[in-house]
This record gives sequence, C-alpha cells and structure tokens, in this order.
Amino acid sequence: MDKVNFSVASIGKEEEDAVIRVLRSGWLTTGKETFAFEKEFAEKIGAAHTLAVNSATSGLMLAYDACGIRENTKILTTPYTFASTALAARHLGAHIEYADIEKDSYNIDPEKIEEKLSADTKKQIKAIVPVHIAGNVCKMDEINTIAKKYNVYVVEDAAHAFPSKTNNGYAGTLGDAGVFSFYATKTITTAEGGMIATNNESFAKRMQIMRLHGIDRPVWDRYSSDKASWEYDVVDSGWKCNLPDVLSAIGREQLKKADLFYKKRKHIINMYNKSYSNYDFLQLPPNSCGNAWHLYLLRLNTNHLSITRKEFGNILQKKGICISMHFIPHFHMTYFKNLYNLSPADFPNSEDNFQRTLTLPLWPDMTEEITQHVIDTVIETGKDHYV
Ligand SMILES: Cc1ncc(COP(=O)(O)O)c(C=O)c1O
Repeated sequence: MDKVNFSVASIGKEEEDAVIRVLRSGWLTTGKETFAFEKEFAEKIGAAHTLAVNSATSGLMLAYDACGIRENTKILTTPYTFASTALAARHLGAHIEYADIEKDSYNIDPEKIEEKLSADTKKQIKAIVPVHIAGNVCKMDEINTIAKKYNVYVVEDAAHAFPSKTNNGYAGTLGDAGVFSFYATKTITTAEGGMIATNNESFAKRMQIMRLHGIDRPVWDRYSSDKASWEYDVVDSGWKCNLPDVLSAIGREQLKKADLFYKKRKHIINMYNKSYSNYDFLQLPPNSCGNAWHLYLLRLNTNHLSITRKEFGNILQKKGICISMHFIPHFHMTYFKNLYNLSPADFPNSEDNFQRTLTLPLWPDMTEEITQHVIDTVIETGKDHYV
C-alpha cells in the first residue's frame, strides 16, 4: 500500500463551487459570506455571538484581550497544548502559569487549577484556559465553579473541539469565550481560520473592534453599500484578524458536512479501539460522550516494549504510516523552558503521556482498507518489540 497520510482534507464539489461563486462575485474579503458563516455557526453551537477570525491563534489573542489580559497579568493553562495557547497571551505582554494535566484525560486537572489560584496572592491570573485535547471536553462544571470562586474568566481553547457536545451544550460555549480552529487538519477547515464564540455582549463588542485595527464600527461594506460612509474612528491599537469571504465560503460548506465527518471519523475510531483493546502494550485514548474525535491519541505501555515511543513512531514512519505527536509539552520547548525555568518533573502526568503517545492517521474519507493497514502495522510493530 502507498504511504498513509496523517490527514487529508475532505473537500468536495460543494466547496469548489462555493469558492468559484465568491471569486466571481467581485467581493473577496470579509462580507456577506462571512456574516452568514458566523450566523450559521452560532446557530449550530447555540452561541449568542460568533466572530470569524483568520486563525484560532488570533481568536485566542482577541478573547484574552477581552478578559483584560495585559502586562502584569497571567493566564493559567497546561503545558500539554500547542504553543499558541500560551503565545497568544505573550503577544499581549502577559505571562503563563502552568498546571499539570490529569493522569488519563490529557486535560487540565481542576485540583491543580485550584492549587495555582489559591497560591496566586498577587491576583495576577485573570483567566483559566482549558484545552479540550482531541475534542475531549475538560471538566467544565468544576472549572467554572473554581473560576467563579476566584473571580477569573474561562477561555476555552476549543481548537480541537468542534463538534464536541455535552449535556450543557457545545464545547466552546461553556466558558466566557471559546475559540475554534479551522486549520487544514481540523474537523472542519477553511484552510486557515477560526471562530470565537461568546455569550458576553461586551466581550463581543470589544473583540469586534480589536479584530479590525481598533476601528469603532463595522466597516466591511464601506466600498459597496449605498449607505456606506468613509467615516470611522480608531479607538484602540487593534489587529487585523478577519476571515475573508473566499475562506468563509469553504467553511459554510464544511459546516453542513460536520456531522457526517464526525460519523465517519467515529467509524475509524471504533475500528482502531476494537483492534487495539486486545493488546497490553497499547492503551486506548480517553473516552467521552462529548468527544469530537479530532485526533486518535494512542498510548504505548512502554513497560511491555523494548523500544521507546519515539523509536516506535520512527518505525511506523519507515513503514509508510505518517504519524504525529500531540503535544510536545511546553517544558520541552526552548522558549518556554528558559522563560519559566520549567522542568518535566514539575508536570509528571504531562511528561508520562508525552513519552507514551503517538497520534495516528485520521480523516473522514480514510477507507476501511487504509484503516486496517494502519492497525496491522501498529500491531505488528508492537509484537516485534514485545517484552
Ligand atoms: C490546542 C490548539 N490551540 C490553538 C491552536 C491554533 O490554531 P490555529 O492554527 O488556527 O491558529 C492549535 C492548532 O493546531 C491547537 O492545536
């Protein structure tokens, strides 16, 4: 069999037609298509306000800014996340406090959150940022209760978590703001892009202004509408984070297919889980009813193997299975390690999961034949190095 890719976007004729329609419309950047995408996404997840942005990274920066994250403040998150969860706060001059993940779920441990907040005597932490790893939703009830107790905001890094649904609603609508990613490998894509959701009107107003240069009013139609006026004011030093209509057109078609994509990913997950559950050198990913199953995180029980996770992954790559690793914790990254003097010993659960996890190929149109080939290759590799 040919090389198995890690991720392949599912783009059909619907997306192609939508892009051509916008390209021929004469208006390429943010406009009607993006407003429609925001509205449809808000309806899907049940959020009062949604703001389309050019990446989840920009979305996090806007959400942090709305929470008052500035110099001399901090966010509290885990080291087990992508760099931009933290960098978005650094761009605002703020700092990061890290709490370890739970042993099994990859998600932030509410007990560790409380420890950090109770030790924060200078009250610098202004927001907790739970990251729903692979779409597995964090313990949001507990986190929201702690946030209330310490009077801090909750910004969900929901980059992986569309459409993760809990009894209290969709992930991304459970805190003060939530940020989704539409990066090329995500559960739905616009190539690059993201969406912020919030039920807080003043947050939405602030984010709308800061999303476009700090301009005091929506001015998308200033070149086209009869009522358009060239007049506007700049009231703060905002950024340029809008999502163009060409990309929103792709997003609208992807949104229509989101539940179908979920079903197809779930089928592959079921095949993986069923096969891997028979081997003591493998540990299945954490399960959750609200899991969007963005990624399949397979853990190796390395005490039953003569090779490390890194060596196991290299063998899979040599056999033509493209794998990834979510995530290299921040305490292994030069920038964060040096800035905060971080050590793996301070985050034993993050370190343990990091040393044992591989992310396997997963995308909606992955056939049963390809899935079975991945399964066979993983099991064969484990058996070859079993102790
Ligand atoms: C957990 C997490 N947060 C944030 C991001 C940033 O997303 P984007 O690439 O849309 O900026 C990513 C990207 O992969 C991510 O995995």
